Amino acid sequence: MFVRGDICDGPLVEQLLAGHGVRAIVHFAAESHVDRSIHGPEDFIRTNVVGTFRLLHAARSHWESLPSGARDAFRFVHVSTDEVYGSLAPGDAPFREDRAYEPNSPYSASKAASDHLVRAYHHTYGLPVITTNCSNNYGPLQFPEKLIPLCIHHALAGRPLPIYGDGRQVRDWLYVKDHTAAIRRVLEAGTPGETYNIGGWNEQPNLEVVHALCRLLDAERPRPDGRGYAEQITFVKDRPGHDRRYAVDAAKIARLLGWRPAETFETGLRKTVHWYLDNQDWVADITSGGYRDWIARQYGP
Ligand code: DAU
Repeated sequence: MFVRGDICDGPLVEQLLAGHGVRAIVHFAAESHVDRSIHGPEDFIRTNVVGTFRLLHAARSHWESLPSGARDAFRFVHVSTDEVYGSLAPGDAPFREDRAYEPNSPYSASKAASDHLVRAYHHTYGLPVITTNCSNNYGPLQFPEKLIPLCIHHALAGRPLPIYGDGRQVRDWLYVKDHTAAIRRVLEAGTPGETYNIGGWNEQPNLEVVHALCRLLDAERPRPDGRGYAEQITFVKDRPGHDRRYAVDAAKIARLLGWRPAETFETGLRKTVHWYLDNQDWVADITSGGYRDWIARQYGP
């Protein structure tokens, strides 16, 4: 059953948990776009911090009301981000679960706050929580504010492909279905109170990602004028406070829960490009209205 609601609406969440005999919560609900958090941090505090608190509060009363077997089996999985760890220098080891938090954007600070609340609900009340911290996702159905779908959309529309700063910032990319498979594994077999880092073992500088996309599009949907999509690459003003490098050490989830990504960056990116080429109607629909206002605000008219 799908209910459209707001995680900040405590009474609604409580009513849904009690009314549907909920056995587990997988908490994906978040404001997720770093650039939007720079323009308007308050929404991020409201949804990511207050919303997570309301969900934890409701989950705790629901969990405490369950009979003992159901109480033991209940899980609250909190889906978070590698950005809570801050930025790595070129030679630094990838983020492990025991790394100190150093969030640098209003977005990552709000996710860090939510991770701490989740941890506190376990430590103080015993709520069986598990937190996952994942790297950059890509794949079908991703809103075209994020780098990969934005560049596919702009390339096909003949618009500039905006690269922030020098384009040498590094991200670790993971195909979305590999992320959901990891969350499923954590839900099935993760230990309450633990955190698990999830990543693709796939560090790429942004400029490389965009060049790889351009090569795929050149092959799959050549430009009518016969030139390459890479010609549309445009360097723009850097994101304020832009983290230089993220890299995730996903050895813990691999060792303890047997999870590894199924896709390589090559296979995942190809699937992603195919999906967007086959679903141009979805893109057209989603990029109308408010999306156009966002693009004008972020990248200029
Ligand atoms: O690391 C996990 C995080 O990945 C998630 O927690 C966030 O919710 C998700 O938005 C993503 O954050 P990023 O800021 O890394 O993703 P984004 O797609 O916005 O940007 C990826 C990189 O590309 C980043 O270094 C900024 C750069 N970029 C992004 C856009 C939108 C550009 O150079 N140009 C752009 O137009």
